[in-house]
Amino acid sequence: MHIVTASGLTKDYNSLRAVDKIDFEILKGECFGFLGPNGAGKTTVMRILYCFTAPTSGEARVFGMNVTDNPSFIKSKIGVMPQDDNLDIDLSVFENLIVYARYFDIPKKKSSLFASELLDYVELSDKTHVNIRHLSGGMKRSLLLARALINKPELLILDEPTTGLDPHNRHVVWKKLNDLKLKGATLILTTHYMEEADQLCDRVAIMDNGRIVAIDSPSQLKAIHGGTLEDVYMKLTGRPLEH
Ligand SMILES: Nc1ncnc2c1ncn2[C@@H]1O[C@H](COP(=O)(O)OP(=O)(O)OP(=O)(O)O)[C@@H](O)[C@H]1O
Ligand SMILES: [Mg+2]
Repeated sequence: MHIVTASGLTKDYNSLRAVDKIDFEILKGECFGFLGPNGAGKTTVMRILYCFTAPTSGEARVFGMNVTDNPSFIKSKIGVMPQDDNLDIDLSVFENLIVYARYFDIPKKKSSLFASELLDYVELSDKTHVNIRHLSGGMKRSLLLARALINKPELLILDEPTTGLDPHNRHVVWKKLNDLKLKGATLILTTHYMEEADQLCDRVAIMDNGRIVAIDSPSQLKAIHGGTLEDVYMKLTGRPLEH
């Protein structure tokens, strides 16, 4: 069953075509990754899928609903981790989760309990009452992951979930994402880490200049083009990895 479908999906920012007539389908329960150099259009696609930006033309459907027709329904059932940290700097770690939970009409008692559980899950319990300003960059990414899970979403859209994390915490997040997948969640993520895509993703789309230049499983891409996923990426985009 397709949980996301996009056909002829296009996004223009004035004269700049950020996403150029792309087609893809994402199956329920799979982990699907978008790879590509800076400016390839990955975040723009994520923003369209989580109903933050409307497409210029073409169509995107999530849970069978058009993103422009049913944004409230879609937003209520997804978890989103944006590329840019949009935490509320006037609030504590705990309050950020509680305030966010209100968007989903989660009763106060339930959201408090769930917020505590999630902070435990992302190993931020000792920062519960700390102001956001006092978190490190990596801790903010972990809090964003916790926040994305507050409504127990069946679809997670994660824009660079592990950027800025140290190698240990990156592996911790990979394990969590894998656990979520095993529990039946569908994951859509973007990443610049080929190892992450290789380990986590059932299929990846490699984007360049707003277009999808390849879409397949990492193992198939390696078999077709030869070498590692990093070699495939460099071959198809003509660009080295930005590390
Ligand atoms: N709000 C905006 N207004 C105008 N142009 C934008 C806007 N957002 C993105 N763009 C442009 O659209 C193109 C695609 O940007 P996007 O953020 O989708 O790339 P990306 O693949 O996510 O890159 P990165 O790996 O750096 O996060 C870029 O040329 C960017 O400058
Ligand atoms: Mg981006």
